Amino acid sequence: MPPSTYREVRLAARPGRDLGPEHFEIAEVPLRAPAAGEVLVRNLVLRIGAATRTLMADAHGLPMASYEPGRPLRGSALGEVVAAPGTSLSPGDLVRHDFGWQQYATLPAANVRRIDPARWPDPAACLSQGFAGWLAVDRVARIRCGDTVLVTGAAGGVGCVAAQFARLRGAGRLVGTTGSRRKAGFLLRELGVDAVLVRGEGPMEEQLRAAAPEGIDVLVDTVGGEQFQSALALARRRARLVVVGALSGQAAGGTRSHVALDTLALCSRGITVSGLSATDHRASAERWEEEFSAGLREGTLTFPHVRLSGIDQAPGALLDLLAGRHLGTVLVEPT
Ligand SMILES: NC(=O)c1ccc[n+]([C@@H]2O[C@H](COP(=O)([O-])OP(=O)(O)OC[C@H]3O[C@@H](n4cnc5c(N)ncnc54)[C@H](OP(=O)(O)O)[C@@H]3O)[C@@H](O)[C@H]2O)c1
Repeated sequence: MPPSTYREVRLAARPGRDLGPEHFEIAEVPLRAPAAGEVLVRNLVLRIGAATRTLMADAHGLPMASYEPGRPLRGSALGEVVAAPGTSLSPGDLVRHDFGWQQYATLPAANVRRIDPARWPDPAACLSQGFAGWLAVDRVARIRCGDTVLVTGAAGGVGCVAAQFARLRGAGRLVGTTGSRRKAGFLLRELGVDAVLVRGEGPMEEQLRAAAPEGIDVLVDTVGGEQFQSALALARRRARLVVVGALSGQAAGGTRSHVALDTLALCSRGITVSGLSATDHRASAERWEEEFSAGLREGTLTFPHVRLSGIDQAPGALLDLLAGRHLGTVLVEPT
């Protein structure tokens, strides 16, 4: 029997530049029984992501609606169907949806996606945001054998997956960036990265020049700012620079990321800069899930993540993620 109430995390007030615990509120709310065509889901795992910070602003460039003060936050979640009258879903089915940050959700069945538990060694891996990293590597940059590849934010949820696919697709030299020595060690030991540039340990361009003296062929960029600029400086002829995110601005509460572009360098070296939005590639989502889940089953890919327990941990998990204290995807079990 589901409880009569559950807890959800709300945006208490829009933050300015500094986000703190005071911007979150945990509220107890009545559980609503599903009408015909709706599904009641008990959330098992929520994903915490950097985009949540950006969506707290009332004006931003992301293709999603802003969060509203006094309303629950949203985000990807994996849950178990409790009841789904008048639908093809059954109690116990695993589903993915976007009503995270709460213990239960009642939503239209059309807004959930059934997850096949046999496909995933750990079904929580279906929450990986690696889709964007895979798209960057496979569909946009089209990495070729021997390419020198730079993945910025390589220890993040997108970056960890992009780095692994770059290696699988034959990157000759693979360079990553991160914010700490601890994460650098992980990238070198566990993900097969050849060299790591550490934020705060000297100018990025100098570090990149030392790590890739011949320059780079591909950039998968989740950070922007100085890191994008350094990649452009070291881009070889016909380099493909793919912009996936702008963590350097987002982590500090910004909603814009500006860099100066030397357009003469772009045309003289035939460099391509592509912005990528995963929402434009929904038709490839099934193919991504097939490849990612098969790689996890076969052991050719991993899903680096941390998993915390308790919905009251969710606000702190976001603050810690933005401060660079976590590695890989950040998950919370909202028990
Ligand atoms: N285009 C799309 O369709 C799409 C889809 C999904 C996600 N995204 C975007 O992709 C980006 C990466 O997402 P994610 O989920 O992988 O991020 P994430 O891991 O959740 O991001 C947190 C990481 O950002 C890094 N960071 C914090 N402050 C930073 C700073 N000042 N400069 C550089 N890095 C900083 C930290 O890593 P280190 O300590 O290792 O530096 C931290 O662990 C985000 O911008 C997200 O919005 C885009």
